[in-house]
Amino acid sequence: FVPKHAEGGRSGSVVARDALGQEVTSEGWLATHLPGSRELVEGMKGDATYLIVDKDELHGKAIRDLGIVAVCTHMGCVVPWNAAENKFICPCHASQYDANGRVVRGPAPLSLALSHVDTGSGKVLLRPWTETDFRTGEAPWW
Ligand code: FES
Repeated sequence: FVPKHAEGGRSGSVVARDALGQEVTSEGWLATHLPGSRELVEGMKGDATYLIVDKDELHGKAIRDLGIVAVCTHMGCVVPWNAAENKFICPCHASQYDANGRVVRGPAPLSLALSHVDTGSGKVLLRPWTETDFRTGEAPWW
């Protein structure tokens, strides 16, 4: 038995899926997303996760090698990206997170979780982030 979302080949990694449940490819995502975009895919454990597109000198744009899990650390609402404010703002109780998902206003107690994003295979793979959280200098809480 192979769980539907367990493919990817590296331990604990999953292929990102779009709103239709299709596997996300790097090429497909970059064809439809501009630099600066933060849009959701289904990631590890089925959690909504933001892929970030950055400007890239070589290719024009690239998917950033980290994803931000959209689950609010207060009570679990999915947190929308607000491009005008350059923040993630939770609709449930107004917690705010900066562009890297670091909490800047409560009641959320913690920053948004991170995952690694690997695009080398052509598919967009999400992989557990077990290293230090660079935003806080602390071990990951997730
Ligand atoms: Fe996001 Fe409460 S669930 S602020």
